Amino acid sequence: MEAPILQLERVVAGYGPTTVLNELTFNMMPQERLAMVGRNGVGKTTTLRAIMGLVPLRSGRVSFQGRDVSSLAPHERADLGLGYVPQTRDIFPSLTVEENLLAGLKRRPRKALDEAYALFPRLAERRRNGGAQLSGGEQQMLSVARALLGQPSLLLLDEPLEGLAPLIRLELLSAFRNLSRETGIAVVIVEQQVDEALAYAQRAVVLDHGTVVHQADAAALLADEETLERWVGMAVH
Ligand SMILES: Nc1ncnc2c1ncn2[C@@H]1O[C@H](COP(=O)(O)OP(=O)(O)O)[C@@H](O)[C@H]1O
Ligand SMILES: [Mg+2]
Repeated sequence: MEAPILQLERVVAGYGPTTVLNELTFNMMPQERLAMVGRNGVGKTTTLRAIMGLVPLRSGRVSFQGRDVSSLAPHERADLGLGYVPQTRDIFPSLTVEENLLAGLKRRPRKALDEAYALFPRLAERRRNGGAQLSGGEQQMLSVARALLGQPSLLLLDEPLEGLAPLIRLELLSAFRNLSRETGIAVVIVEQQVDEALAYAQRAVVLDHGTVVHQADAAALLADEETLERWVGMAVH
């Protein structure tokens, strides 16, 4: 049997006196596309931050590629192959598109930028534009492209479609599909608009109060109105 790429085992984490993740446990297989859904405030962002090491664990364990990474710093986890695109698009507004991408290159040759431009042709057109001049969708593309230049084997996407116009959402989702097909990278996608995330993903975990309350094939969850109504609310189109 193939080994999981990611394992969360009874993860407890939070902020100050507040516990957000309550014995959170789930696995992911290599190349899997996993949607993580649930109401606002249930701990989706905190989960991604705990995987990256941006929130310390109070107890439990995060393993990546079979290795316990719970005590590693975020940059060490990134070096091992974890890529993170936070909810707030973390681009440098005063740098150009190309300069933003160069900042994500690490030790790779400059030619690697071609990968980013192939995935997002729009970024190639805008390569000399400043980050602040980009539309929301273009900023999101830049944020994703920069994370990918680190060649992660698992990419964590926090609400990548949030606030974007329908056509741009389709363009991003199509790029994510190409990426999955061409690289086999594993992806966790957190989304409020669950229909789009479930159409892209293979499997889904539903969170409530910092714990997994439901797991299913993405297509099965998409058809399961009762479960969606109960745990996700009205976020389905
Ligand atoms: N930096 C923080 N300090 C204190 N509480 C926080 C912080 N970030 C998030 N929270 C709280 O943690 C809970 C879970 O937040 P979050 O993980 O962002 O949920 P989600 O992404 O599912 O909307 C919420 O109640 C939120 O208010
Ligand atoms: Mg969030």
